Amino acid sequence: MGKLQDRVAIITGGASGIGAATAKLFVSEGAKVVLVDLNEEKGKAFQEELQAQGAEALFVKANITSEEEVANVFKETTNKFGKVDIVFNNAGIGRVHSSHDLDYSEWRNTVNVDLDGVFLVAREAIRGMLESGGTIVNTASMYGWVGSPGSAAYNAAKAGVINLTRSLALEYAEKNIRINALCPGFIDTPIIPEESKKELSSITPMKRLGKAEEMAKAVLFLASDDSSYMTGNSLTVDGGYTAQ
Ligand SMILES: NC(=O)c1ccc[n+]([C@@H]2O[C@H](COP(=O)([O-])OP(=O)(O)OC[C@H]3O[C@@H](n4cnc5c(N)ncnc54)[C@H](O)[C@@H]3O)[C@@H](O)[C@H]2O)c1
Repeated sequence: MGKLQDRVAIITGGASGIGAATAKLFVSEGAKVVLVDLNEEKGKAFQEELQAQGAEALFVKANITSEEEVANVFKETTNKFGKVDIVFNNAGIGRVHSSHDLDYSEWRNTVNVDLDGVFLVAREAIRGMLESGGTIVNTASMYGWVGSPGSAAYNAAKAGVINLTRSLALEYAEKNIRINALCPGFIDTPIIPEESKKELSSITPMKRLGKAEEMAKAVLFLASDDSSYMTGNSLTVDGGYTAQ
């Protein structure tokens, strides 16, 4: 029996990168997955790929910054699978930009997706888990712990996700809702520009980028009973970067 046998997992940013790798691993552990993403083409194609392998999968298009669309994700999930056990709150965006040239609208957009959107998904998840409990894994970043030039909005939002995780975890610990975060280092997904990969590998102690599949294993740990006494934790998986 899989570690997530018959559990229902919502995965935001599920069409690509870390979210997609996690969906594959969750399915292999017996979960039913709901892929949430802005990218409908990629999301639907991935849903079909998983279904062709015999998995129970559903794609729901949603923007995590919309309260209505987030509520609809949970409604569609309950309609299809009857419950929500796990939420991998993972969708996010990142751009590198000098802060003195950063438009306020660009700042707002980054914080809106990377922090507000994470809150909106967590809030809806918690509303549904108050009676039965559940697990939530938020994707922060190693740049929630340390700074870097050119990513002030992203780094501020990700630091926010780490303390949002602690605060929500404390608020709902007695309700049997465990809430933890994943803090990835540089991971080889479409969010990292091809031309930056060599440089980012060279500044990582392990001298390589992480793989999305390596993040998925950490998410499985945080989402499953293997981490049953953990809440409010932010787990860093970064090839040693923040140990420097
Ligand atoms: N790859 C890295 O190096 C790295 C490092 C640290 C943290 N992260 C975080 O990991 C998470 C996943 O990123 P990834 O590396 O898999 O990148 P990715 O670009 O492959 O995947 C992100 C997915 O989120 C979706 N998305 C973006 N905005 C959305 C919105 N408003 N509503 C719904 N979906 C939206 C995108 O369409 C995309 O499919 C992000 O939160 C990112 O900040 C990534």
